[in-house]
Amino acid sequence: MGVDDRKSKKILEIEDLQTYYGRSHIIQGLSMHIDRLEAVSILGRNGVGKTTTLRSIMGLTPARSGAIRIDGQDTTRWPPHRVVRCGIGYVPAERHIFPGLSVEENLKLAEKPKVQGDVWNMEKVYSHFPVLKIRGKQDGSTLSGGEQQMLAIGRALMGNPLLMLLDEPSQGLAPLLVYEVIQPILLVCVEEGLTLLLVEQNYRMALKVASRHYLMGIKGKISGTATSAELMADGDIIKQHLSV
Ligand SMILES: Nc1ncnc2c1ncn2[C@@H]1O[C@H](COP(=O)(O)OP(=O)(O)OP(=O)(O)O)[C@@H](O)[C@H]1O
Ligand SMILES: [Mg+2]
Repeated sequence: MGVDDRKSKKILEIEDLQTYYGRSHIIQGLSMHIDRLEAVSILGRNGVGKTTTLRSIMGLTPARSGAIRIDGQDTTRWPPHRVVRCGIGYVPAERHIFPGLSVEENLKLAEKPKVQGDVWNMEKVYSHFPVLKIRGKQDGSTLSGGEQQMLAIGRALMGNPLLMLLDEPSQGLAPLLVYEVIQPILLVCVEEGLTLLLVEQNYRMALKVASRHYLMGIKGKISGTATSAELMADGDIIKQHLSV
């Protein structure tokens, strides 16, 4: 067995995912995959099922059928805490900062050292988001929207994940913050070899951060995949899949 065979090439593999909220059949047969070290985005209009897809990966809204494999392990029926433990960092759109805990405590709680190699720790998070250090003792839930987004990303990184899922990290933020703070840290993550799945309506950022994109239509149906270069060369594809 070669060295590379020991680890699965595919960090995430989804096969014919079917997810419901009660009787509403929301995701109707989604298949996709992310290779190790890839940064991939899901682009799609409001309500097509992007968040639901991430929730199914996390085990928050479990799939009714189909299969989800993370690093070769079948996690389809796993509860969220187990999915997190197998190396998934999740930055939900609502950020979910723990109220009553300081910024520092929010970060400390998520701390999980990587077995080897570079490690995301408090110091490294603060070096990318100096405002979090300044506000270290402040209750995390009283931060501004932009600061909470930085804290949510910093907290996911403290877990030193194998794969980080981000649900519209640019939502509700001023363009300056998106392009000078959020986009740069995601680019650092990609350069350092963190595998990313990014859900975005801000396609400009998605095209910069991710190199391959799944185009999602209604009911989670994937109509195709395209590279950033392909999307940049053909603006119509973006128009068909996003409200721009
Ligand atoms: N808890 C829920 N109960 C019932 N239906 C839901 C629930 N959450 C989401 N839905 C429905 O599932 C569909 C997909 O929602 P989802 O949040 O996954 O879309 P999205 O692609 O993330 O949209 P957006 O871009 O607006 O965030 C929508 O029609 C939504 O109304
Ligand atoms: Mg959503």
